Amino acid sequence: MKMNVAIIGVGRMGRRHIQSVQKVGLSLNCICDVNEESLLITKNEFLLPDLVITCSVEDVFYPSPPECIIIATTADSHCKLVCQAAEAGVQYILVEKPMAVSLEQCDRMIETCNRYGAKLAVNHQMRFMEQYEIPKGLLDTDAYGGLTSMTVVAGNVGFAMNGAHYFEAFRYLTKEAIEEVTAWFSPEVVPNPRGSQFEDRGGTIRAVTSNGKRLYMDISSDQGHGIRVIYGSRNGMITINQLTGEMVTTVREDQYRNLPTTRYGMPAVNSQTNIHPTDVIDSSASVLQALISDLNSVSGQDGRQAIAPIVAAYQSAESGSIPVRLNSTLDRSRVFPWA
Ligand SMILES: NC(=O)c1ccc[n+]([C@@H]2O[C@H](COP(=O)([O-])OP(=O)(O)OC[C@H]3O[C@@H](n4cnc5c(N)ncnc54)[C@H](O)[C@@H]3O)[C@@H](O)[C@H]2O)c1
Repeated sequence: MKMNVAIIGVGRMGRRHIQSVQKVGLSLNCICDVNEESLLITKNEFLLPDLVITCSVEDVFYPSPPECIIIATTADSHCKLVCQAAEAGVQYILVEKPMAVSLEQCDRMIETCNRYGAKLAVNHQMRFMEQYEIPKGLLDTDAYGGLTSMTVVAGNVGFAMNGAHYFEAFRYLTKEAIEEVTAWFSPEVVPNPRGSQFEDRGGTIRAVTSNGKRLYMDISSDQGHGIRVIYGSRNGMITINQLTGEMVTTVREDQYRNLPTTRYGMPAVNSQTNIHPTDVIDSSASVLQALISDLNSVSGQDGRQAIAPIVAAYQSAESGSIPVRLNSTLDRSRVFPWA
């Protein structure tokens, strides 16, 4: 029998999860949203027979909980709903990013899922997307010589909204935890598309691992177009336009590989190709598949590691942009207004 699934939160992303569930071949039995309009839009977009459609979260869990649940509400309710699902006996829980709105909430979600034996995954799709897998494969070769820096220049995508994805991508690519963050916030806070109760910040960040690998992000709120990522390495560079999939690579010819880094203009092999641009449905289906098969799943700890640098960024930006170390003084209890 197909595993049965419920989705809580059928706004824009929740509706994409319906397509992911169909792609993985699971049985969607119930959708829930506190907003009747979201339920109506979903009903009109998808003709789903025998589906329980409800405004009440209680209906999702009682009398019998689903085997799997996807929580695609805004971040303020992620912790409460994940803990409720684990306590009700749901086995597999996929929660949207940002995982939660405080580090304390992340810890509570992980601890509650462990206590009730529920498997928790966070929908950071990076490790299943060509735009990270392909550069990872190239950068790890002797020809490139290993990733040294990742630079994201983008429109105003928000540190919590998309910045969290880049922290996860960087950790995945380097296999190293971020040790220190320095941040500068843009002065203006723009209205949040998910409602006036939410707020995210744009600006500039420098994050460093203990081995000196660097992540730079310029997602300032005076920038309004595009997303490009540049990967630096000992012997080459890769640039990816994440919205179109255009990838440009340049790497030293073999015979020049061992010359000093000061010889940055050596003859090189250059290429320009197209890879898959961002696709949330396929990649979310991969995260769901990984969760239920327990293979390469994006764990609660992975989700937490994408939140900690954002907390550090706030502490840095609000203290005159001093570097903030992640292992010591992060405020676990502060609750942020992220969506
Ligand atoms: N992984 C990704 O690629 C990706 C992409 C987009 C959005 N997201 C994340 O998905 C989440 C949802 O984003 P969205 O764009 O769909 O937002 P949205 O505002 O379009 O939808 C959120 C829905 O959740 C419902 N909701 C909120 N609180 C609820 C509660 N307590 N119980 C039941 N329903 C509740 C709202 O009524 C709304 O219909 C956010 O956390 C966002 O960051 C992830």
